[in-house]
Formats: sequence, C-alpha cells, structure tokens
Amino acid sequence: MRAHVVTFGCQMNEYDSHALQSELAAAGYSFVDDYREADLVLVNTCAVRGKPVEKVQTLLGELRKEKRRRRDLTVGLLGCLAQLPEGRRMGEKFAVDIMLGPGAITEIVPAVERGKYRSFEFRSELQFYSPPPPSGAVSAHLTIMRGCNHRCTYCIVPATRGPEVSRPAADIIAEARALEDAGVVEVTLLGQNVNSYGMAEGTGARRRGLSGYPSFAELLRMVGRVGIPRVRFVTSHPVNFDDRIIEAIADTPAVCRYIHLPVQSGSNRVLKRMAREYTVEFYLDRVRRIRELLPDATISTDIIAGFPGETDEDFEETLALYREVRYDAAYMFIYSEREGTPAALHFGDVPREIKVERLGRLVDLSKEVSLERNRAWVGREVEVLVRGPADEGGLLVQGHTRGNHVAIVRGYLSPGIHRVVVAEATPNRLYCKTDASQSFGSDARLYQLTSKP
Ligand code: 5AD
Ligand code: SF4
Repeated sequence: MRAHVVTFGCQMNEYDSHALQSELAAAGYSFVDDYREADLVLVNTCAVRGKPVEKVQTLLGELRKEKRRRRDLTVGLLGCLAQLPEGRRMGEKFAVDIMLGPGAITEIVPAVERGKYRSFEFRSELQFYSPPPPSGAVSAHLTIMRGCNHRCTYCIVPATRGPEVSRPAADIIAEARALEDAGVVEVTLLGQNVNSYGMAEGTGARRRGLSGYPSFAELLRMVGRVGIPRVRFVTSHPVNFDDRIIEAIADTPAVCRYIHLPVQSGSNRVLKRMAREYTVEFYLDRVRRIRELLPDATISTDIIAGFPGETDEDFEETLALYREVRYDAAYMFIYSEREGTPAALHFGDVPREIKVERLGRLVDLSKEVSLERNRAWVGREVEVLVRGPADEGGLLVQGHTRGNHVAIVRGYLSPGIHRVVVAEATPNRLYCKTDASQSFGSDARLYQLTSKP
C-alpha cells in the first residue's frame, strides 16, 4: 500500500506527520511523492489563520476529483482543522473518509484498516508515545508537551490542541538519545509553550510544578547533557520565560542562544484585549535579562498587525517596541478572524487596507533592523549546520547558524556542522566563506579552496 502525506503549519505538525508515517510504515505502507500514485492521502492541517485553511480546502477539492476517478482512494483530514466545526463541515463537503483530531493521531492504523473513521479524542496514550528517529536527518524535532492553557483571544489553538500535557522527562531523554544514536546533530524541543513544561494546570507566572517532572530550565540542562551538539526550543510564552531558563541557556553549551519570544503587540491596551497576561514593561524586562546573560543571543518574535480595535497609536507602540528590542527576525501576520475565538465574538475588525498597510510598515522596519543586526556578524566566525544545496542555486550550500540565521556558504560542504566566516549580510541571509582570506565574489578560484564532501 502506498501513502502520501501533506503537512501544513507548524513544526508540531511536522513532528506529528513523522509519527503518522512511522506508524503507517510499521503497518506496511511505503510513501510516494505524488498523490496520484497513492492509495491513501493524509492531509495534516493547520487552522491558526485563514490562509492555511484555504490551502487545505483547495487540496481537498483536488482530492475529491481524484476520488471520483479512483474509487479505492482513501483520504484523511487530520490535525487542528479536523478538530474544529469548520473542518468537520469541510470533511463532509469533500467526502473525506478519515478524520482525526491532533489528539487522536495514534489511532491512524485502525483508522486506515477500517477505511471510514472519525476520532476527535485527546488520547491519553499520546503523552507516552515516542516515534522512532527519522532516518538520515541531521536535524530533528522532539515534542515535549502538547496543548495550551492560555486563552489569547485571537487564537484557535486551545480549541484544537486542548489543555497542556507534558511528556515524562525520561521519555524525552530516551528519545533525544535515540536521535543522537541516529546521527542527529540538532534537536528542537517543541511545544505550544515549552516554558510551562511540567507545570500544573492554570496559567500565569506563578504556577506550581507537577510532582515527578523537572522544570523546563532543568529539562534544558538534561537534554543539553545528552551529547547532541545543538539543542533548540520553540515556542516560548513571555510570562513563563523566567530567569532560571535564561540561566540554563547560559550554562548549557549545547543550547543555542536563539530565543523566539512572541510579543504579538507593543501596546498594553492591545495586549490586555489579547489576554496575553503580560505588559510591555514585563516583556522588556525579560529581554533585558536575556541581553545581560546572553549578550550574543538572537531574538525573534511573532507580531499580529491589525488586531480588532488596534488604533494608529497602538500600532506606533508596536513599532517603538520593535525598535527598542531590535529583533533579529520576526514572523508578522495580519490578524485573521477565527470562528469561535473571543476576539471574533467581542471586538470589531480593523479594515483590511489598514491591516495591510500596517503589516507593510512593520515588514519594512523588520528588514531595516535585521540588516543592521546581521551586518554586525560580518567578519565573525559562526557555526553553520549545512543542510544541502542552496535554494538560490549556484555552487552554494545552505544551512543555519546557532542563532538561526539562514546562512549561504560558497563551496561543497557536506551536510553537518561547519565553522565559517561571515562575509556579507542581507536582511534575511548571512553569506559565508570557509576561509577568512576569501571574499564572497564570483572568483572561480574560490570554489577550489572550499572543502568537498
Ligand atoms: N490571526 C493572526 N495571527 C495569529 N496567530 C495566532 N492566531 C492568529 C490569528 N487569529 C499568530 C500569533 C502566533 C503565531 C503562531 O500565529 O502571532 O504567535
Ligand atoms: Fe495561542 Fe496564546 Fe496558546 Fe500561543 S499561548 S497557542 S497564541 S492561546
């Protein structure tokens, strides 16, 4: 039997797709790149904004046509969208055979055996599920917790992924060891809010720890000792990003000094309406502590432009905060109304052209600041995890630094960790050379200087 899996959305979904594929492989499935050759097509979906939902809808339309041609084709709608009323309606409309919510992915084998199957449960066994390591990968994900206890008013995730559940530390360490044995040199610890790993129910800065669980700071130190040279983590919530985490990063050489700290807005009024549980002042204090203990750290963020009721002044405050923090990078989004979220119910939307204009200004500012931040690396030696040939072609390889900069290196470096020197910077790339005496020009001689696999 042949399967094809399409993954939308975040790294958690990529990890879940890997788990789904591992289960199917154990049940005898092989995988094909073209859905027209598959007996089973699984679509692992994202519901965080309108765009990924539209993409799923388009794909389901194509798959319905394919099903009309081939009656034996089985189609599954999985992940966050499947959990929502919007997704269930879509499943009916496009005659999908299998629907599994993000908490029910361990049911994939019985689901495909039956052919018609629906489950939206949060299965308790998922907390104790470890997928086998991916084969041949230098970089891997490791989900340490699932779900989210926060109630940010724009966000659909608490409805799709349920409340927070942390995996036992022993299972996480065992999975990290298996990744190391499989040759992985970079592991990214995943969770909607990794900082609240091992915490009891509730939200806020003063949550109790669950008995038998280390804190996230302790877990970082533990994973840091496994021997994988790079340990990363996403995503952090500022309210639980405490000093102990920053100290653990500072003390643990394997942990990359890259912190993704979503701020969402620089206006206290908007943060309150978003129910983010912190103020701009609290957030800036976290950044101050990061800069004190980790002066070389890169910091990135998520920002939403045009949250309902956001005024010009509110937005100016976001730009001011951006200038003050001087983010290395940012993921910027236009507010997208999600059915059933409190923001959609209670606040009036900002006109689309204003949202677009604000996003444009934010993107311009981010480019300016990123360029300045990236230029500060020129002339310095950095470590790059090379993944393979560069997207931009030529005799270049591409990877990323410990600080998560996209790095382009001239030459034939093999996949893995290399030390290089930054020669040039753009807002979203560091162009690097393997030898300080090179320049990043188009001199053919340079190609011969670089190492070959
Ligand atoms: N509209 C726009 N952006 C959103 N995000 C989450 N929900 C929405 C929404 N309704 C963004 C947040 C979050 C990131 C993963 O997606 O910035 O941090
Ligand atoms: Fe959504 Fe807020 Fe939870 Fe992040 S912390 S997943 S933005 S509700």
